[in-house]
Amino acid sequence: MLRKSPFNRKKILIGITGGIAAYKIPQLVRILKKEGAEVQVVLSESAKQFVTPQTLSVLSERPALSDFFQSDQGEWNNHVHLGLWADLIIIAPAGANTLAKMAHGICDNLLMSVILSARCPVFVAPAMDLDMWTHPSTQSNIQTLESRGVTMIDPEEGSLASGLEGKGRMAEPEKIAQILGKHLTPAPNYFLGKRVLVTAGGTQEALDPVRYIGNRSSGKMGFAIAEQLLSLGAEVDLVYGAVSVDPPIGSNNHQTLSAQAMNEACQSLFPQCDVLIMAAAVADYHSVDIAKEKIKKSDETLTLTLAKNPDILKSLSDTKKTHQVLVGFALETENEEFHAQQKLQKKNLHCIVLNSLKNPKAGFALDTNEVTLFCNDGNQFHIPAQEKNQVAVSLLNILGDWLTKTHS
Ligand code: C5P
Repeated sequence: MLRKSPFNRKKILIGITGGIAAYKIPQLVRILKKEGAEVQVVLSESAKQFVTPQTLSVLSERPALSDFFQSDQGEWNNHVHLGLWADLIIIAPAGANTLAKMAHGICDNLLMSVILSARCPVFVAPAMDLDMWTHPSTQSNIQTLESRGVTMIDPEEGSLASGLEGKGRMAEPEKIAQILGKHLTPAPNYFLGKRVLVTAGGTQEALDPVRYIGNRSSGKMGFAIAEQLLSLGAEVDLVYGAVSVDPPIGSNNHQTLSAQAMNEACQSLFPQCDVLIMAAAVADYHSVDIAKEKIKKSDETLTLTLAKNPDILKSLSDTKKTHQVLVGFALETENEEFHAQQKLQKKNLHCIVLNSLKNPKAGFALDTNEVTLFCNDGNQFHIPAQEKNQVAVSLLNILGDWLTKTHS
């Protein structure tokens, strides 16, 4: 019996732009067709200098398109339709100009318009001369595209068309096909059917009926995690403190404010959960006396006596059963990795997620974040700055993979 290929019946749109590596794309078309994919080629005008539309049409068994209009027949190639048709788009080769156009939304040809209309994953296999590749403008365009979820298939080292040696050769068609195949292979979903307790937001420690000690946590990261867990098929208990956004619909939501109240909610929900993801920013101290009436302005200074809050995560970790997985968050301002690793050990966690506050795109109230996941077997995974929703997707994919390998 034939093995089921991840490409079987998948609709792949290959965008070819001008560059010598374009001569290798017929080979990519052949591989994908052989694997059972439907392949639609869209070429830029300059790509035709390197590979003929006829060759690509014959191999893909569809007309290779490059114009909005097929002039002789008066037919319109609908870019929106093509963008929506595709399950996956790969642009190969993509030169520096193509990366710049993609990063800035310039759609001056059919291919660029298709990319702007696409809702599917987009992969790019760049190919260019080594200095163009390392140029800050190219690298900044790549960063922009990656932060929007585009996947780069990095060029390789070797001899370049210019006669120079270095990084810039397009990845070989076989390697491109392998990376696309891996993406299309459904990953085992660790979280399906699991009960996951997620905490989010900041805590508020009352001083009097009006004032409190709080922090800048918005709850956005924890909520994004809860939402992604729901779409992975988990049952989610969400305990949150002070937040600036609405919690997701579909999770079992419990609002608390003080660390003590958050602790009580977590202690009662933890025994039933398989995984705990503690993203809340819990206050370390609370006021010993909470004034019944509003504290009046009197002396020049005011002394508050604070007492330590329970470390919720540590106390849950002390009672955990062998099947339970614990993931903490750490936010450090100096010696970040050292402190994160220390908390991983001290709180006896499976993993800890370090928020990088050094990046201006990462932080409490922002919609973007950059994190590194440290696991207790020494593995670490960096997730570059991107929308918090996207960080949640990447984080749970990586965590789910790691847990499947180490805890299944
Ligand atoms: O505050 P700290 O850096 O120790 O936080 C690390 C982890 O411990 C976070 O996941 C946080 O939610 C959790 N924590 C807790 N109870 C506290 C303080 C922190 O559960 N009192």
